[in-house]
Amino acid sequence: MFTLAERIKQLPPYLFKAIDQKKKAIAATGVDIIDLGIGDPDLPTPPHIVEAMVQAVRDPANHRYPSYSGMEDFKVAIAKWYEDRFSVTLDPENEVIALIGAKEGIANLSLAFLNPGDCALIPAPAYPVYNSGTHFAGGNPYMLPLYKENNFLPDLVSIPDEIAHAATILWLNYPNNPTAAVADRHFFEEVVTFAHTYHIMVCNDLTYSEIAFDGYKPLSILEIQGARDIGIEFHSLSKTFNMTGWRIGFAVGNSEAIEGLGAIKSNIDSGIFQAIQVAGVEALRVVEESSGAMQSIYTRRRDIMVNGLRKCGFTVNPPKATFYLWVAVPDSYTSVDFTTRLLEEAGVVVTPGNGFGDPGEGYIRLALTKDESRLVEAIERIQNIGI
Ligand SMILES: Cc1ncc(COP(=O)(O)O)c(C=O)c1O
Repeated sequence: MFTLAERIKQLPPYLFKAIDQKKKAIAATGVDIIDLGIGDPDLPTPPHIVEAMVQAVRDPANHRYPSYSGMEDFKVAIAKWYEDRFSVTLDPENEVIALIGAKEGIANLSLAFLNPGDCALIPAPAYPVYNSGTHFAGGNPYMLPLYKENNFLPDLVSIPDEIAHAATILWLNYPNNPTAAVADRHFFEEVVTFAHTYHIMVCNDLTYSEIAFDGYKPLSILEIQGARDIGIEFHSLSKTFNMTGWRIGFAVGNSEAIEGLGAIKSNIDSGIFQAIQVAGVEALRVVEESSGAMQSIYTRRRDIMVNGLRKCGFTVNPPKATFYLWVAVPDSYTSVDFTTRLLEEAGVVVTPGNGFGDPGEGYIRLALTKDESRLVEAIERIQNIGI
């Protein structure tokens, strides 16, 4: 009866569908599934943030249309946090925009800056929205494979000159989903030079900036000299404050990039419910308090899982950031075969690495979004099936 638009048809196949179906079928037989597949924190939003929302919901001033680019208080709170956390000074009016989650901004950015046929440089494996946003805008993704040998960083030098000249946007995400890799200052300096040379907008997804361990502090690209000319950075309150369901994030950086994104958004959405933004102000007031508690929890979970997997015979290094483990599957398996075996024989759900792009083949991603006792049990079950 209805024909889907080409932009939908062009999307890569949803590789997790078969796994999802199998998971449901196995759960229906009464198996107690341990789901380490989804990057959705199991922990609650800190009570002081919930309380701020509750108060704000009662205020009729918050019941009306919010401003498109975000409440002034929220944008000022974002700029203050940036100054405190990264020593980067932002103009809340022109260099900050509120988002209905980082995902929304990431998808809309391409609509603002890609013309049909334009090239976007996109790492693989990667969070899938860089690709789908590019497709929806009619752009052409050029894949930058992330390999272990390169510490899962894109090799900018290997990009052919004609591609670099044709490219409009470069997507980056460190700390990285799904590989849990991090990037250092030297890499970001290289990126800024590359972007200046080829006139490319760098879109840095810093969603996991506060999920970091052992004293490691992820960088903002805006800390690098010259980055403000070429860079926009995306943030989420989802992971830092266990607020995935609330739908709130923000983007900061180059004022033209922020303005362009705002022009798309003001035609598609009407901002974030103000009560949620009030809660966002409260969240940003004491970031370290919330993130410190979370970091301790994820550090313990990470160590349980890394040690357990090592005992099972896997080679895995403790990541410095994110709540993911990116683990190579045994030689005789594909990502999907191994995921299927873990599900069918151990009742443990993980994500096949190739679901994030072809170079993710040979890996699985585990999310540390279950409590310690469940992680211990997952390890016992994996040990029992013998790998
Ligand atoms: C790398 C990355 N960016 C963005 C997002 C989306 O964040 P939000 O919940 O703010 O839309 C996620 C969520 O998993 C993610 O992993």
